[in-house]
Amino acid sequence: MANEQQTEFWSGSGGEYWVVNQQQMDTMLEPLGAQALARIDLNNVHHMLDIGCGTGSTTLDIAARLPEGARVTGADLSVPMTDYARSRLGPEGVSNANFMTCDLQLDKLDSGTFDAAFSRFGVMFFDQPVVGFSNIRSAMKSGAPLAFVCWQTPRENLWHSLAVATAKKFIEMPAAPEPRAPGPFAFADTDYVTSILTDSGFGDIVIEPHTQTVELFAGQDVRNAAENFARINPIISAFMTEAGDDKAEPLIDGLADALAPYHQNGALHFPSATWLVSARA
Ligand SMILES: C[S@@+](CC[C@H](N)C(=O)[O-])C[C@H]1O[C@@H](n2cnc3c(N)ncnc32)[C@H](O)[C@@H]1O
Repeated sequence: MANEQQTEFWSGSGGEYWVVNQQQMDTMLEPLGAQALARIDLNNVHHMLDIGCGTGSTTLDIAARLPEGARVTGADLSVPMTDYARSRLGPEGVSNANFMTCDLQLDKLDSGTFDAAFSRFGVMFFDQPVVGFSNIRSAMKSGAPLAFVCWQTPRENLWHSLAVATAKKFIEMPAAPEPRAPGPFAFADTDYVTSILTDSGFGDIVIEPHTQTVELFAGQDVRNAAENFARINPIISAFMTEAGDDKAEPLIDGLADALAPYHQNGALHFPSATWLVSARA
């Protein structure tokens, strides 16, 4: 089945982690998503698609910024994340947004529906990216803008590489995935991103580098932050759950030591490197 591993992760432990830690993840990712969103003129939008919207924060933010009468649809594979996103609509009084639980690679969308599409780190997980992006493009009106943010390499993103390097001292970590394998770093190579978008029928492709310090786990001491930090990584998280406290403790201690230089004013601060990608359907 296509996207089987991703479905298992995002509708399982990964999705549940994101629901519980929604605010922390938003604090880290919001400034990066904002950079991509600024590439789209929301004044011209009638119906926008938020690709891989997760727990819905970007969709709700877009809904609040859209002009009168315009709407946004957040679409995501994950059952717990879209259930959570939907549960926010009523309490937050939002009437111009909706959420679809769907696989944007596999599930056909009505053609020509959207006049803009956006994503904050939700486009790197398709096992057939050209099929996924072609599906998205066919759901967009001709000439409609697409903007998304994705990660550069793990080496340039310490929030990931530091955890992996530290964990390796305590547990056997699998070999690094192939650079283009579906996952957070699949779009690190800009030639690859350009070829996917071109082969999916997008034009006017612009890819800009962006570096920014991001904040994680505000209000937590370095040890709590280390424990939560470890849980972002699916391999380390699975080990901690299975191994029990005795074996997990040394790893968390080691991680807390490695993170200490990045823990300032009650939060972790890391440099991040992303690509801001824009194109037209
Ligand atoms: C790193 S999370 C980002 C979530 C959200 N955009 C945010 O910034 O908080 C990646 C999201 O992409 C979604 N995703 C992965 N593969 C997908 C697919 N084939 N179709 C739709 N969503 C997908 C996941 O379920 C997950 O919510």
